[in-house]
Amino acid sequence: MKRLVTFILLFVPLFVFGGEDERIEAILSRMSFEDKVGQLNQLDGRGDIEKLKKEIRAGRLGSVMNIVDPAVLDELQRIAVEESPAGIPLLFARDVVHGFKTVLPIPLGQAASFDEELVERAARNTAAEATECGIRWAFAPMMDIARDPRWGRIAEGFGEDTYLAGRLAAAVVRGYQGESLSDPMSMAACAKHFVGYGAAEGGRDYNTTYIPERQLRDTYFPPFRAAVEAGCASVMSSFNDNDGVPATGNRWLLTDVLRGEWGFDGVVVSDWGSVAGLVPHGAAADKREAAKKCITAGTDMDMSSRSYLLNLRSLVDSGEVPMEVVDEAVRRVLRLKMRLGLFDNPYTRKAATSVLYSEPVLDDACTLAQEATVMLKNEGVLPLTGVRRILVTGPMADAPYDQLGTWTLDGDKTHTLTPITALRELCGDDVEILYEPALTHCRDNSTARFGRLRSLARKADVVLAFVGEEQIMSGEAHSLADLTLQGAQSEMLEVLADCGRPLVTVFMAGRPLIIGREAEISDALLYAWHPGTMGGKAIAEIVIGRANPSGKLPVTFPRCVGQIPMYYNHKHTSHIARGTEGNLDDIPREAVQSVMGHTSSYLDVPPTPLFPFGFGLSYTTFVLSGLELSDTEVTADGVLKVRVTVENSGKVAGTEVVQLYVGRKSASVTRPMKELKGFRRVTLAPAEKRTVEFELPVSELAFCGADMRVAVEPGAYTIMVGTDSRDGLKSRFSIVK
Ligand code: BGC
Repeated sequence: MKRLVTFILLFVPLFVFGGEDERIEAILSRMSFEDKVGQLNQLDGRGDIEKLKKEIRAGRLGSVMNIVDPAVLDELQRIAVEESPAGIPLLFARDVVHGFKTVLPIPLGQAASFDEELVERAARNTAAEATECGIRWAFAPMMDIARDPRWGRIAEGFGEDTYLAGRLAAAVVRGYQGESLSDPMSMAACAKHFVGYGAAEGGRDYNTTYIPERQLRDTYFPPFRAAVEAGCASVMSSFNDNDGVPATGNRWLLTDVLRGEWGFDGVVVSDWGSVAGLVPHGAAADKREAAKKCITAGTDMDMSSRSYLLNLRSLVDSGEVPMEVVDEAVRRVLRLKMRLGLFDNPYTRKAATSVLYSEPVLDDACTLAQEATVMLKNEGVLPLTGVRRILVTGPMADAPYDQLGTWTLDGDKTHTLTPITALRELCGDDVEILYEPALTHCRDNSTARFGRLRSLARKADVVLAFVGEEQIMSGEAHSLADLTLQGAQSEMLEVLADCGRPLVTVFMAGRPLIIGREAEISDALLYAWHPGTMGGKAIAEIVIGRANPSGKLPVTFPRCVGQIPMYYNHKHTSHIARGTEGNLDDIPREAVQSVMGHTSSYLDVPPTPLFPFGFGLSYTTFVLSGLELSDTEVTADGVLKVRVTVENSGKVAGTEVVQLYVGRKSASVTRPMKELKGFRRVTLAPAEKRTVEFELPVSELAFCGADMRVAVEPGAYTIMVGTDSRDGLKSRFSIVK
């Protein structure tokens, strides 16, 4: 009680009279050194709760992760506020990566929607669910550019493209943080993992990266900058070392660039144990040296390694870490708590009506799963019409846990709508549904049920096969060297294709898999990623034509693992990849070395991917025409307007994602062939036409030139507007001084 009075006496006048900085300084001036260090310490709340309470009571904790029981959180908060020496509220954090209770499609799937508005709205719903359970800090969005599908965490980000990742990361930040962080329904977002983590060597998680500064600035920084510009309250440093320096101890990155160049004034939190991680990296002799390097680099909060807690006292006493460095880190933590309104009301918001699994939240999750689904092939079989009997099969047809995808910490699989449940519900008595999973799970190797499968397939008008990856096959520390379908899934599809019935294959997976053969033998192919709670309904509605697919690939699908890394915005190179069909029989025996020409291709696979970035089909067709530019010459501070007419030339309503790419042939440094610089979802009725206008600020064409400055370079540029990254309508313009 005494402490409560102290809390009120200390903080209330500050809120009434002070500005943010003054309030922070006033709090800081009343804190002991131990209170300050406590604010920089974040621990996992799972485990011995009594021990945790002791730490909180002693003021040794600033933030707690992974408790989602509001009653427990309120009790911990009460201890912090009323019983700890400085009475500073705790900040409760969680990996709220794609949905909370209602699980959204994995972020890679969300990226396929190219729908910022919906991604933002779904993120807002997620914030409403998570804050209802007391979470005010989400470790998301993740915006690591990933060009290697072997890397299990490709599932968690927005794919291979810098521009798309930035736009969607900003959308999630806006959704999580709302109009104001102090809204009890808002939670602080965390842009992660800064930086380059997705470029891990060979797709092996946590591995070394070697990204030169130019590529950092052109490819890896921009999504983080977009998140910071959207007001993202925190940034998480990554596990990897880049060019010899672990991110968590990289002062250039966290202080010079993030804070100095971009003006970020939020909190930098380490990744799990990544302060102490400097020791196994070989970048620090012990935790003490690691703490010294990381706090001076600009990592404010130490997630779970206790390196700050145990070492800052002696580091400051010995003069190795200036007190001002500690104070500055504490200021940032206090500022975040203040912006979240925790000093006003530290407790979990009390919801009049619960939003958990509520209808509007589920509906948005369903629409997002629908928009995330990419149709990769359709030989006139979808949508199903006039069928009387469908065989539904495959290990993902009824896998309520697996379809939720990685980082499903809070979603409950009993709420999952699987494809088989949804199809039964939607088809009612009109269509007979035969169901034979054939394999118990994706790694099941048993072909014992294939005989029965064959006989059922022969009785059906069409076969719907649900295949893919289990949840556990992607995500953190779940990289794969072989990306072909696991278990006997491919064999199962061969059996089905052999039965002569139209075969629709639906993939649910956390990454692009290698699916060339499956694409060849299927009559239609849908790629639904791990679609989340409402995935079954979303897919079922597409299959029966109640929804029209509009998803576009946010990542290139290679033909085989040997092609990786493969991404659309590669550079020109001196020997362009062309010419080979990848057929080894075309190679003459004992001919001169140069007989195959000199191209940047493999001898044994074509130079193209299986499916390119931006690709995705619809039940209707679209024609683009009349590409017009507002100017043929623009200045670096100008805005280029690009107009194009889109027509729905098919028979049903549908949505096209019109994509704008910009490239240039020569510059002070070599540049990508083309880069996405705009996209627009356009929904049209049959025969409807619309002119779409993109406003392209020329400043968005800046890149890191020969002088290492990011600037717009005058010269000749190409524009391509299309429905995927391969081809489209083309034009030119110049940037002049
Ligand atoms: C992951 C982060 C995550 C953190 C906290 C780490 O292992 O890399 O993405 O936010 O754990 O759970």
